[in-house]
Amino acid sequence: MENIRNFCIIAHIDHGKSTLADRMLEYTKTIKITENQMLDNMDLERERGITIKSHAIQMEYEYDRKKYMLNLIDTPGHVDFSYEVSRSIAACEGALLVVDATQGVQAQTISNLYMAIEQDLEIIPVINKIDMPNAMPDEVEDEIVDLIGCDPEDIIRASAKTGEGVPEILEAVVKRIPAPKCDPAKPLQALIFDSIFNSFRGIIVLCKVENGSIKRGDKVKFVQTDMEYTADEVGVLKLDLEPRNELGCGEVGYVISGIKVATEVKVGDTITHVDAPCEKAISGFEEVKPMVFAGVYPIDPNDYENLRASLEKLQLNDASLTFQPESSQALGFGFRCGFLGLLHMEIVQERLDREFNMDVITTVPNVSYMVYDKQGGCKEVHNPSGLPESTLIDHIEEPYIRATIITGTNFIGPIMRLCLDKRGELLSQQYVSGNRVELHFMIPLGEIVIDFYDKLKSISKGYASFDYHIDSYRPSKLAKLDILLNSEPVDALSTLTHESNAVTMGRRMCEKLKELIPRQQFDIAIQAAIGAKIIARETVKQVRKDVLAKCYGGDVSRKRKLLEKQKKGKKRMKQIGNVQVPQKAFLAVLKLD
Ligand code: GTP
Repeated sequence: MENIRNFCIIAHIDHGKSTLADRMLEYTKTIKITENQMLDNMDLERERGITIKSHAIQMEYEYDRKKYMLNLIDTPGHVDFSYEVSRSIAACEGALLVVDATQGVQAQTISNLYMAIEQDLEIIPVINKIDMPNAMPDEVEDEIVDLIGCDPEDIIRASAKTGEGVPEILEAVVKRIPAPKCDPAKPLQALIFDSIFNSFRGIIVLCKVENGSIKRGDKVKFVQTDMEYTADEVGVLKLDLEPRNELGCGEVGYVISGIKVATEVKVGDTITHVDAPCEKAISGFEEVKPMVFAGVYPIDPNDYENLRASLEKLQLNDASLTFQPESSQALGFGFRCGFLGLLHMEIVQERLDREFNMDVITTVPNVSYMVYDKQGGCKEVHNPSGLPESTLIDHIEEPYIRATIITGTNFIGPIMRLCLDKRGELLSQQYVSGNRVELHFMIPLGEIVIDFYDKLKSISKGYASFDYHIDSYRPSKLAKLDILLNSEPVDALSTLTHESNAVTMGRRMCEKLKELIPRQQFDIAIQAAIGAKIIARETVKQVRKDVLAKCYGGDVSRKRKLLEKQKKGKKRMKQIGNVQVPQKAFLAVLKLD
């Protein structure tokens, strides 16, 4: 146990976490030189260059003629997965805080650092990318000293590209990070910090043994779900799974017990023995709740069952995805899906498209609202069209986030305006260094899911980093904005918006839809309404569209091509009443200016 070191790397996106992990794996000869980054093993992850699911890998390392077992636990790099990050951090005794020498401390550096400090982790600061010509290691060193109050000597300068500093980092892991505190005589307590889906083996549960030990064949219980299993196989994670007879005290490894679906395994849960259970579960468990919801509908209604099967398959390895059948007058039968956040939603959409070849329409995302009725009852609503009659509603509460933004001082003005525009409230403002500032805001999550990221990026020319955590539900004056096409309300286009924005938003929605809905053989009236009151109107004028007219009667193959092209264009349209509405229109609200 004295020879075990469990640690993770915390860093802002692109600061070099995966590259540094690779160098450590190479240096310890855990892997041979690779072209690709080993820790990110889903295709999607590699393409996006971010770690979506956290995994772990064990390295052997000799220092001062003693052998050490180093467990590197990878952490997902995005706010959507911050609960998973917190559990991975909870399984460690130390963390490498990696900061890019050309970028300095960024929003995610700070929010992950706070989590690590909360868990009492030993922090080893590392300045990465010192090989780059525009590296500013001295400035970044000052920022880190200010941030964590360490001695400048404690900061390791490194390059994950050239390998410089990597031996010093491994040495520091052994010397500075404490061995796990663990009592082998106590009943088993193992913290589940992740799970991996494998189509042959089922769910592989990743855990750290906090007390006691777990042997192959043990009867175990998952405390939060109260389910019992046999530990058919236990082992450690190298490049492949390496079975062992036992996972000892303080070790990080895996357990396979015939579980088939991800939803049975809850990150943060405690594994104990059925016969000699622990008294208490490991603290910090939370049920992850989706915060962002959207309707997902098959373009072809005949694909409904296929879509259900695809979502079920996705859920096998993505426990945080939820879905429920729902129907929309406009879109027919589909599902209301719940996601951890916007990125998670994009990932699911992309996987539906790529892995399952599903053609779907996704509606505008919204957050989950708490709706209080006049009798004092409260209901969680995941869809604006599911709101009760306005006369029955006492008030509505919506989730607020605590946002951290780090940016250059020259962008403070526009960023403040953006956040205030999004109903944000400035909580604090402090300098990270001479010309960079850290801002904290309280903002409704509903405003972030619409078009916040893109705007922030464009007004700061990319020089602003952003991170957030859900804070609380707060009452808001929200109005339901409906859109009507030729007097038919299109439920899939309804949104909830703050009363003060409703009229402007209604107007802009109508304008945008006018641009997006193609002319058809009759006039199309587009109206925005709050309750029975129409607040805006636009018209798409009729046209007699004859694609073949352009062909001057000539070439047949050209005619066929044009027809094919038109057919393809149609596929992405949805018939609503008698109006053809393109897929883009359902996301119109996301791009209002
Ligand atoms: P996420 O998984 O998105 O959080 O990113 P990450 O922090 O794992 O960053 P990654 O290792 O993918 O590195 C981001 C980019 O920086 C890649 O293009 C790397 O090749 C490059 N990079 C990483 N470390 C260094 C370094 O020390 N020097 C130089 N020049 N480039 C580096």
